[in-house]
Amino acid sequence: MPLRNEFMATERTLTIIKPDGVAAGLTGAILAKLEQAQLTIRGIRRLRLSTAQAEAFYAVHRERKFFGDLVRFMTEGPVVPVVLEGENAIARLREIMGATDPSKAAEGTIRKLYASNIERNVIHGSDAPETARQEIAFFFAEADLV
Ligand code: CMP
Repeated sequence: MPLRNEFMATERTLTIIKPDGVAAGLTGAILAKLEQAQLTIRGIRRLRLSTAQAEAFYAVHRERKFFGDLVRFMTEGPVVPVVLEGENAIARLREIMGATDPSKAAEGTIRKLYASNIERNVIHGSDAPETARQEIAFFFAEADLV
């Protein structure tokens, strides 16, 4: 472990194992990779998003041409939202996930290993502290994060 420095902070972030990852039986493998990277699970659920919930979660993308497909994909089966905590958790999760498009993702990343394409990319991760706060609150009550 590197020594803690002024640029490091304990953060929380939200990840979602998407319907393709859950259906492929990858939940355990993905959680193991995250835990091996010293990201601690503080909250975990398994649920199926309604269309309204998926539209709300991805509201920032509602003008994009892939929005309808994305909502259909995210509602096709159960998802596993997880709150992770650790040093620089937001950036580190994004590094471990790899690029949105798996063909551009680095070797060894979750998307390089398991994702099919830019849409069916097995995992979501918050992109910044404010979105992490909003996305965590979308699925979890503060009292359930232990
Ligand atoms: P995620 O990181 O969860 O954020 C938005 C999601 O939209 C993304 O992962 C993909 O699942 C999907 N997405 C992003 N860009 C595209 C695209 N160009 N075409 C289709 N789906 C996309």
